[in-house]
Amino acid sequence: MLTPLIAGNWKMNTTIHEGVDLVLKLRELLKGADNAEILIAPPFTHIYHLSPLIADSPMRLCAQNIFWEKSGAYTGEISGEMLKSAGCHHVIIGHSERREHFKETDEVINKKVIAAIRDGLKPIVCVGETLEEREKGKTISKVKLQVKKALYGLGGGALRDITIAYEPIWAIGTGKVATPQEAEEVHNALRELLHELYEKESLKNTRIIYGGSVKPDSIDQLMSQPNIDGALVGGASLKAEDFARIVRFLPR
Ligand code: PGA
Repeated sequence: MLTPLIAGNWKMNTTIHEGVDLVLKLRELLKGADNAEILIAPPFTHIYHLSPLIADSPMRLCAQNIFWEKSGAYTGEISGEMLKSAGCHHVIIGHSERREHFKETDEVINKKVIAAIRDGLKPIVCVGETLEEREKGKTISKVKLQVKKALYGLGGGALRDITIAYEPIWAIGTGKVATPQEAEEVHNALRELLHELYEKESLKNTRIIYGGSVKPDSIDQLMSQPNIDGALVGGASLKAEDFARIVRFLPR
């Protein structure tokens, strides 16, 4: 079985001091936690500072975004090499908030995924449908297309380092979590798609994680589904006790 992945997406929250406090609490609460790979994705400004604080903990650092060029005149952007040198191992790409507020297209997301792999970072690629798309029965076709476009041009070798995050947009930050069955149906369809696109061998480590209002009281049921390999946690990752409980979900 794949080691589950639990990632905390802090979004644009916390000052550096608040971030340090949160990490120090998590260090205590997560001592000895070994049932999952644990990531925290703080704002860019915090990454380098938090890196030594988590060195002897089970947490690792993840960025919330990346730019695809290596360096140059791109005011305001951050490259993969910069993220790696600050201590990141993973990067979230194509979060629905970036698609919505910053107009990131599937093509942009594909460029970022390719750049992350080139620069030695492991992408967490986010896909998900709107409420309207779900109500019209378009969920599976929408997310499959998003995955195909995000992975366009990538060979099987890259899939070892890629995680797909299924995040229904209607569930993000709304308190409305998808039922374990709703999530499982989509995860299963995405797993089938990956098997159509790539050799089985390349997919041995490819996780499909769920995101959207994951809380301590919903994680155990979600994780009991065969195709849910972890969680991308927003709001609840800002509360140390909640995030620690999510990380210590009860095994299947
Ligand atoms: P949420 O966010 O847990 O606050 O719904 C999840 C996410 O956006 O990754």
